[in-house]
Amino acid sequence: MTLSVKRINDTFVGEVQGVNLADDHGAGEIKEIRDALMDHGMLVFHGQKMTSEEHVRFSQKFGPSEIHTVKQYLLEGFPEIIALSNRGDKGTKPIANGGAYWHSDITYKARPPMGSILYGLEVPPEGGDTLYCDMAAAYDNLSDAMKERIEGLKAVHSYLPRFMASRQIDEGFQDNKFELSDEQKAELAEVVHPIVRTHPENGRKALFINEGFTVRVEGMDEAEGQALLDELNAHATQDRHIYAHGWSAGDVVFWDNRVTMHKATDYDRQYARRMHRTTVQGDVPV
Ligand code: OGA
Ligand code: MN
Repeated sequence: MTLSVKRINDTFVGEVQGVNLADDHGAGEIKEIRDALMDHGMLVFHGQKMTSEEHVRFSQKFGPSEIHTVKQYLLEGFPEIIALSNRGDKGTKPIANGGAYWHSDITYKARPPMGSILYGLEVPPEGGDTLYCDMAAAYDNLSDAMKERIEGLKAVHSYLPRFMASRQIDEGFQDNKFELSDEQKAELAEVVHPIVRTHPENGRKALFINEGFTVRVEGMDEAEGQALLDELNAHATQDRHIYAHGWSAGDVVFWDNRVTMHKATDYDRQYARRMHRTTVQGDVPV
């Protein structure tokens, strides 16, 4: 394999040539890809064609799959794949616009996933970009005073408020009015993570809060905590920290959830948008 990686943004994002993700890669090739992911925070691959088996096989070379608690979006026969599709997919509910708020995947679990591998199967001719934010650059660019202020602070993450809100957004679009079971709700109990995390593989510090799932700052007055979270979010999502990925069918984006967050953007829903995501388990943030 002759992997070549080109940086396509000022601070992060590697565009990879010379890899067919459908192949059964050996350890050396996987290490090359993993090293590139650590160097760039996220990787973009074009012109891919994978079966669901191949997608899962590639993903599992980086670690076991995180299976989403909301089973309604899992692809029939492939619980490792969450289908984000406005037309539904094999056995799944349609999603109008999943993840249309800044978030890193599944930070509401005690061990949030290391990475996510999103495959665009059908995409609209325009719109429906995914925005990515470099949270390591965002941390580096904080003032020293703010770095000092947030040192050692922790924040509470939760999925339930977001789940309820997304049901409202989708109302009138498609049937997603299902309830979560008590077991699902229990799996989604609140968790606490540091606001600044240190990358376990390359030692970089990154902001680890997000609009989607971070609900308050631990031990801080509610309003003061919200103001701090809003300030950090506004700082992080400045243009200089953002890469917008405009999808072509066959694109695969592999991001490190520990140093990036992302957000779906709107598009004309007369067009189909069908994406498959695998999610690689991670560690407890420190
Ligand atoms: C995701 C996600 C956004 C999009 O796959 O985790 O948030 O643009 N996707 O589909
Ligand atoms: Mn997401």
